Parts: sequence; structure tokens; C-alpha cells
Amino acid sequence: MSEKLSALVNIGELVTCEGEKGLNIIKEAALIFNKESGRITELGKEETLRKKYDFSDITAEDMEGRPVLPGFIDPHTHFVFGGYRAEEYFWRLQGMSYLEIMEKGGGISSTVRATRESSFEDLYRRGWQRLDSFLAQGVTTIEGKSGYGMELETELKQLEVMKKLAQEHPVDVVQTFLGAHIIPGEYQDSRQKYIDILIDRMLPAVAERDEVEFCDVFCDKGVYTVEESEKILLAAQKFGLKSKIHGDEIEYMGGAELAAKIGAVSAEHLLKVSDQGITEMEKAGVIPVILPITAFSLQENYAPARKMADRGLPVALATDLNPGSCYSESFPLLLALATLKLNLTPEEAIRAVTINAARAIDREKKIGSLKAGKKADLAVLDAPDYRHLIYHIGVNSVHSVYKSGKKVKEKGKSLKL
Ligand code: NIG
Ligand code: FE
Repeated sequence: MSEKLSALVNIGELVTCEGEKGLNIIKEAALIFNKESGRITELGKEETLRKKYDFSDITAEDMEGRPVLPGFIDPHTHFVFGGYRAEEYFWRLQGMSYLEIMEKGGGISSTVRATRESSFEDLYRRGWQRLDSFLAQGVTTIEGKSGYGMELETELKQLEVMKKLAQEHPVDVVQTFLGAHIIPGEYQDSRQKYIDILIDRMLPAVAERDEVEFCDVFCDKGVYTVEESEKILLAAQKFGLKSKIHGDEIEYMGGAELAAKIGAVSAEHLLKVSDQGITEMEKAGVIPVILPITAFSLQENYAPARKMADRGLPVALATDLNPGSCYSESFPLLLALATLKLNLTPEEAIRAVTINAARAIDREKKIGSLKAGKKADLAVLDAPDYRHLIYHIGVNSVHSVYKSGKKVKEKGKSLKL
């Protein structure tokens, strides 16, 4: 049995993220994992493990005192898209709002056009580059949404790109169908017709694909009403797709209340969430996914994450990487905003991108913290202790990354002139 074991030794601090609160750090630790299954066998003080295991049979790698954390998780991205929308960033700097840009045919519709025109290979190539960028920052699992097709063929193209990337790239991709992202231009005057097509034709075809796990709806001003969102998400539940909601971002609509009512796994954005919405999410166990880079980029007020954390909700954080409202996959920026603007503690911010992010994608039994039986997905830091992840503002502190126990990334070196 022991010939299959590998270990990381001389870990300065092992940040396990276990337990209900805090980080549960073990100093001078080692972590033993099974090479074949990629799962953690045991972890703890190195001294203790050395007494229990025969290390002459274990391939051990020296971490040279570095901190080791669970691989980070991004539970909300739109990372497969065609084209870019740099002009919108500049329009916003001149004072135009996200909604005004959307109303003049820019925004999501513009990416829908570009994604329809993009080839599979082009979407795959750019998706691969974005996953590489995540991986270099210690991210080992992301959620990815469709929603730039708004017609079955292109929605399926996006989902197929994600499937191939998930099979071939070290980063795991959890798939969400977001066919209700906007009402596509061609149905502007017959929105009910699009919703019927979505429910009757698109959902059955999408749900047939085993790897699609969630259905999401953009429930907000100018997009889907609460009633429409409920209808779509309940129909998706009948096909076995769990619910997520983009809610209460632009205006208060009761997205959080709807998430609680229908048993959604998560409610996301929540800039304008009501007190009642927070209470109902707490009661129903809905995970709030907060996207502070989007609020920063749109120059909006931040979601009341501190209030949610104070009420005991397990707040998760995500980048929301997309070509419009938030063209950023930066974890250092995410953690800086979480602590400096959302007023989460460093411990809460780290839990928000590990165990709470795992809960937001229904993966908390497999990833998000370090304990026996979970995947050996690990982020190793190039810093004296874990606090540098936040303290070194806007800079990537990750040294190397392990996926299911396999080293998949190591920090590059510059060459001498
Ligand atoms: O989460 N809010 C809706 N959807 C995305 C934006 C997508 C886009 O602008 O292309 C978001 O911010
Ligand atoms: Fe989003």
C-alpha cells in the first residue's frame, strides 16, 4: 500500500480551512497523499507523521518551509467568450452606466454576436489561456457559465468548449447553463417566445449533458423578472439542474428571496440585497457569492458582505471574469477588495475562496479544505506565511500548484540579460 504514497514535507504552515470558522493552521506540517487516487491520506505535524509512517517508502518533496493552502476555487466566471469590449470600459469612464451600454446594443449582446461568430478552436484556445492564468494564481477549480449563445447551437458550443477544457487542462471546470442571460435581440418584442424555447427546447438538450450541473438566470432590471426566473429555474430543477441566481445586482428585485424560496445553491452579486433577503438566504442555506471586482470595475457600492458574515452566512468570493462588467481573473485584487472594501477578515476572505467557494458549487465534500479523503489540490506560497497572500497587494504570491497530488505549475524564473 505504502509504495503508492507521496508526501509534501517541511511545510511551514498548512492552512487547512477545516472547521466552522478560522483557518485551522498546522505549523511544521506534512501532507501524505495517494499518488493514484490523488486524494489526501493524512496530514498533521511532520514529527507525528514520521512516527506513524515509514518515510523510506514514501516519495517526499521538500516545501522548504513554505505555506500550503487548499487550491483556490472561483465559483462564478464567464470565461468562454468571443471578442472583447474594451470600448465599454472607456465609455464607463466617461460616465455611461452598464445599463445604458446594454440598452444601446452593447454589453452582453455584443459578446453574444462575437461568440456566435467565433470558431470552437478560437474559444478553446482563449479559454485555455484564461485557465492558465487562473492556475498560475493557485486556482484549481472554477465554475464556468454559458450565456453568450442565446440560441441552442452556440450555447452547446460554449458548453462543449468547457467540457474539452475540463478534460485537457489541469483546472477543473464546473458547468452552468445561463441561457437566461439576456432576452436576445431577435426576441425583444416577444420575450415569452424565447422563454418558451429556453424551457421546451434548450433545457432538455442541455440537461442531457451529464457535465452540466447548474442553471443560472440573470434576474434583474432590464433582463428577467422574478416570476420568469422562478419559472425557468424550477423547470431546470425538473431536469436535474441545481439553481444559481445572478440577483439584486443592478436593482433590488428579490433575487435573494427567490433563491431561498426555490432552494438555490447560491445567489450571486447581491449589491442591492434586502435585509429580508439575507435572513431568508441564511434560513435556507443559500451561499452568497460576492463579486467585488465587478462592483469596483462598475464603480458601484459593494455588496453588504460584512453584514452577511456577521449574520453567520458562509460568504464566498468570485472574480466574475467576463469581457464586460469585469475583465479580470485576478485573485490578488479579489482578496485586496475583500479585506479593504468588503471588510472581511483575512481568515474570512481565505475561507471565501476555498471552503465557502466549494459550497457555492456543491463540491465541499471533495475540495475546498485539506483533510483525509479530499483531493490533494494545493496552492504553495512563495512567502513566509499565509498573510502575504493579502498583505502583498495585487501581486501573485503563489509558488507552485498541485492538482490531485500532481505538480501542475511552478513559478518561472527570469533569464539573465
Ligand atoms: O455577472 N450580470 C450579468 N452577467 C455578467 C456580465 C456579463 C457581461 O457583461 O458580459 C456579470 O457581471
Ligand atoms: Fe456573472
